[in-house]
Amino acid sequence: MIAKQPALGRPEATCAALIPVKKSASWWRLAQDERRAVFEEQSEHIKTGLKYLPAVARRLHHCHDLGEPFDFLTWFEYAPADSAAFEELVATLRRSEEWKHVEREVDIRLVREVAA
Ligand code: HEM
Repeated sequence: MIAKQPALGRPEATCAALIPVKKSASWWRLAQDERRAVFEEQSEHIKTGLKYLPAVARRLHHCHDLGEPFDFLTWFEYAPADSAAFEELVATLRRSEEWKHVEREVDIRLVREVAA
């Protein structure tokens, strides 16, 4: 997977999404292996995500223990031609078992202007 993961900042990847995610208190009460099972076996998060590499570059920041409003800050970059694929990816994840544990998310989209 690491081999397929593109770097951030590719010139052609002018679209981005910043999606802060907060999971429920009941999620955090699950044992780590139970969370893993929902994330991997039941929701196939990584298997799904891998289908969108190398089109989508990503970065994940954990902030659960920092007393912030969100548990994760997720960041994605992709080319306009891959916009539909990115929408399909987020829609698939939002239908998954994992997302039943998402209490709040804010979906912020950004577009970088290309200098003429
Ligand atoms: C581009 C395709 C994607 C791949 C390959 C991918 C892969 C992964 C992997 C491997 C992890 C485990 C932690 C790590 O190693 O970084 C992870 C965690 C996570 N991803 Fe994704 N992901 C993708 C897309 C997304 C999208 C589109 C979202 C949000 C809409 C998202 C939200 C999260 C969250 C919130 C976590 C933390 C889950 C937790 O620990 O409870 N991911 N992802």
